[in-house]
Amino acid sequence: MISDRKTGDRRPAEQETGIDLQLDRPHSARMYDYYLGGYTNFPADREAAGKAITAFPSALVAARANRRFMHRSTRCLTSLGMTQFLDIGTGIPTSPNLHEIAQRADPSARVVYADNDPIVLAHAAALLHSTPEGRTAYAPGDVTDPAALLHSPDVRRTLDLDRPVALSLNALLHFVPGAQEAHDIVEYFKKELAPGSTLTITHLTGDFDPESIDRLVQIYKAAGTPGTSRTLSEFTAFFAGWTLLEPGVTPTQRWRPDPEDNLGGITDAEASCYAAVARKP
Ligand SMILES: C[S@@+](CC[C@H](N)C(=O)[O-])C[C@H]1O[C@@H](n2cnc3c(N)ncnc32)[C@H](O)[C@@H]1O
Repeated sequence: MISDRKTGDRRPAEQETGIDLQLDRPHSARMYDYYLGGYTNFPADREAAGKAITAFPSALVAARANRRFMHRSTRCLTSLGMTQFLDIGTGIPTSPNLHEIAQRADPSARVVYADNDPIVLAHAAALLHSTPEGRTAYAPGDVTDPAALLHSPDVRRTLDLDRPVALSLNALLHFVPGAQEAHDIVEYFKKELAPGSTLTITHLTGDFDPESIDRLVQIYKAAGTPGTSRTLSEFTAFFAGWTLLEPGVTPTQRWRPDPEDNLGGITDAEASCYAAVARKP
C-alpha cells in the first residue's frame, strides 16, 4: 500500500517500486491529488498547494470540475463504442479512474495510462486494478516524445493502433509551454491514430481571470514546473480538421453538465479550464 497523508510513511511504496518518492519536496501530481481530496500527498506538497490556492482560490473546485469532465467524457466515449483508451499525463489515480468508468460500461475495455513521472507511476502501480476481461497498463512516457510513447512496447502490448483509440491529454498540455511544440505533439497523434479515434483535451486558460492564472503559473514555475495558459483560439486550434462533439469547446463544467456532479454553481473564472472532445473523420 502507498503511504498516506496521515502517517507520512513512505517505506511501503519505496520498497515496492525502488523509486525515491522525494517526499521532502513538492510534487505537482501530488499537489493535484491534494486539490482533489486524495490521500497521496505529503506536507511539502500541501504547503506548495496552499500557495497555489492563495493565488487561485478556486483551485480545488477547478480540479474537481476537470476530473468530473473526465468522467462524463469517458462515459460519452464508451457510448460511442470506444473500447481502447490512452490517457497521457494521467496523474495519481483517483477513484473512479478512467479505466473504472470505461470498464463499467464495457468490461473488455483496454486502457493505457502514461506519465513521464516515475513518482506518479510508482503510486499508480499500487493503485490500479483492471477487470479480468479488460486490460489496464501503465507506461512510462513523455508526451514531448510522442513517437516513442505511442510506439512503446507497453502501449503496443495493450492497444491495437490499427483500430480507433480514445486519446486524452487532460490538464497536460499547459505543462508544454512552447506553442509550436504543443501543436506538433497534438498533430503527431492526430496523424498516427486510426480514423474514428477521438481526442480529448482539457487546458488551463487565463481568458476569464488572467491575473489569478498568471500568479498560478508563476507559482508552479517557481516550484520547478514551467507551464502556460492558453486562449480559446489557441485551445480550439488543437482540434483542427477533426469533428468536435457537441457542445464544442466549453469550460470544463459546461461540457454536457450532469446535475449529479454538483458543479452547477461554478463560474467560468473558477474553472479557468477549457475542455473538448473531437473525432477523426
Ligand atoms: C495536473 S495532472 C493531470 C492528471 C489527469 N490527467 C487529470 O486531468 O485529472 C498532470 C500530469 O501530467 C504529467 N506530465 C507533466 N508533463 C508531462 C510530460 N511531458 N509527459 C507526460 N506526462 C506529463 C504530470 O506528471 C502529472 O501527472
